[in-house]
Order: sequence, then structure tokens, then C-alpha cells
Amino acid sequence: MQNRRVVLAAHVDGFPKVSDFAVDSVDQADPADGEVLIRNHFVSVDPGMRGRLSGQASYTAPVPLGDVVGSATVGRVIASRNPAFAEGQWVAGAFGWQDLGLSNGRGIRRIPEGPIPPSAHIGVLGIPGLTAYFGLLDIGRPQPGETVLVSTAAGAVGSAAGQIAKIQGARVVGIAGGPAKCRWLTEELGFDAAIDRHAESDMAAAVARECPDGVDVFFDNVGNSLVDPVLPLMRLHGRIIVSGQTADYNLRPDEQVGLKNTRSFITARLKMQGLVVFDYAKDFPKAWAELSAWILDGRLRFREDIVEGLEALPGAFVGLFQGENFGRKLARLTT
Ligand SMILES: NC(=O)c1ccc[n+]([C@@H]2O[C@H](COP(=O)([O-])OP(=O)(O)OC[C@H]3O[C@@H](n4cnc5c(N)ncnc54)[C@H](OP(=O)(O)O)[C@@H]3O)[C@@H](O)[C@H]2O)c1
Repeated sequence: MQNRRVVLAAHVDGFPKVSDFAVDSVDQADPADGEVLIRNHFVSVDPGMRGRLSGQASYTAPVPLGDVVGSATVGRVIASRNPAFAEGQWVAGAFGWQDLGLSNGRGIRRIPEGPIPPSAHIGVLGIPGLTAYFGLLDIGRPQPGETVLVSTAAGAVGSAAGQIAKIQGARVVGIAGGPAKCRWLTEELGFDAAIDRHAESDMAAAVARECPDGVDVFFDNVGNSLVDPVLPLMRLHGRIIVSGQTADYNLRPDEQVGLKNTRSFITARLKMQGLVVFDYAKDFPKAWAELSAWILDGRLRFREDIVEGLEALPGAFVGLFQGENFGRKLARLTT
């Protein structure tokens, strides 16, 4: 059997290009004793993948040239020599941008059949939803009536973070790119206000306008260029969650913006903390149960933005950094 894959053709330098990737096809071995072969139905497209594509080490190992590009995957077992996985079983894994995945049972998770679609298990119930859940509830800890500001709020992590903050009783303001995303936040997800980042020349003024009492919790996915103008607007004992720095991922260190308004840390007794969601792995089952319950009772909604086929993946990845995605970006490899 052949396995088609998207591999890294060139280390990404600056903004990613479609030509940094190539599609190839390799022979796929049959599963040995204890192994399962999985056909991936959906694979994810994440800004955080950028860190592994430049060939430099971060907290995960870099992808060597010619290797498959890593991502979350969800698919079905098509051949099993492992009694824990029946053929036809849906599983979530991390096989990357390829049609097939071979596993000895480690690193894959059975996902239940039910009203929540399998693709959600690599979105709102996958790493993005878990990042929102633990970042907001463990670091942000919003209290009823507090104001929570969320950036890239129409994205996978941000849309979940904002809705979880609403469930905690907070007033929630989102920042997103464009009027359609902003309307979705306020009209469908229940955000109290939304700021269109393309329509504002002065982000500090826009945040001050929509958060007239200041910001208690800032869940940031953009980076210091956005944190800096928000710092003076933080309320006493405010918390800043450094979830992601999407605006910086393609910039050299000398091109990245630093923080100037740091006096606010003293005057407002602020805390700023980053997270790596995998640190919470032992608590994932509790989060899955709570997130699933919120989805089923309609309080946590999600949107998927799906391209078709492996060939569309490089362009979808490039598009993340132009804000082209609206919700969780995925590619469907088969139906
Ligand atoms: N800490 C962790 O453990 C962890 C785990 C998972 C993800 N993350 C991080 O969470 C963040 C969000 O991930 P996601 O998967 O949910 O992506 P996403 O928000 O669905 O997609 C990226 C979005 O970023 C915005 N954007 C792109 N370039 C930008 C720029 N130069 N300035 C401002 N905004 C820009 C765009 O939204 P708009 O155009 O609508 O603004 C774009 O749609 C990423 O930074 C990711 O690395 C962290």
C-alpha cells in the first residue's frame, strides 16, 4: 500500500512558502504483531508547527528535511494486530500530514462514537481546546464579572478560551481580523464585544473603548506587539496568559517587538505566565469530560475551516499567518 505525505522540502526562513513543502509517496509496511494501521481522515494545521520547521531546536525537536510535517490527526483503524483496537475504531493521534499512520498503540487515543464529530477531537477537544481550558482556568482564573480579553478570538484556541470565560461568568472581549469573524464572536458565541484588528490604528484606544473598566485577564495568542499596548489597561492583580506568539513566529529575534510598559507589572501587581499544554496531560480526561459536556449543552461552540486533500495543506499553513482561517484549520484527506 502507498502512503502519500507532505514532507519538508526546505527549512522555513521567515514567512512560510508553499514551495517549502513537497508531496511524495512511500511504501507502507503492514502492521506487525501488536500494531495498528490507521487511515487519517483529518489532519490539523497549526501556527505552533512553525517552530519545528526552521531546523532550530525549540521545546520540540525540529523536523529534518524530507520528513513528514507533524500535526494532530484523526482517523480510523484499517488493519489491526492489537487487541485493544478494532478495525473501524476512530482514533486521535499525531501522525502528521500523511494518509496513513502505523502505531503500536502508544500515542493514539480511542475516540467515542457519538454526537460530537471525530474532527472535534483534534480541535475543541484537542490541543487547542485544552490550551484554552488550562490556560484560562489554571492561569487566568477569571471571576464572575471580571473582564477577559482574548486575541485571535475567532481561531481554534481563542474561540474556546472566550466561551470558557463566558461560562465562568466573565465579560468577554475578543480581538479578531475582519468584520465577519467579529460578528460571529458577538452574534453566535456570546462575546460581549469584538475588536476588528484591521479596522483599528490604535489598539490601546480600541481595547480601552471596549474594556472601559480595564482588563482583568488577557489570554494572548499574538505576542508582545499586542501585550505591550494592553499592559497599561490591565486592572489590579491582572493576569496575562502567554498562550502563543503568532505574530512573532516568522520574525527573526531582532525583528520582534519587546515590552516597554513594564511598570504596569508593579503598579497593578500583574502576573504574566506562559504554558505548554502537555504539562497538564494527567488532567486531560477531566478537561475532555467538562469540554464535552459544554459542547453537548450548547455552551461551547466551534467552527472548522476545512480544505480538501494533502495538496492543499501548505497553502492552508501559509494562510494562517494572513488570518485566512476562520476557526479550526483542518484538511480532510478522505471521507
Ligand atoms: N501554549 C501552548 O501549549 C499552545 C498550544 C496550542 C496552541 N498554542 C498557540 O495558540 C495560538 C493560536 O493557535 P490556533 O491553532 O488557535 O490558531 P488560530 O488562532 O486558529 O489561527 C491563527 C490566527 O492568528 C491570527 N494572526 C495571524 N498572523 C497574525 C499577526 N501577524 N498578528 C495578529 N494576529 C495574527 C489570525 O487571526 P485574526 O486574523 O482573526 O486575528 C489567524 O487566523 C498560536 O500562537 C499557537 O501557537 C499554544
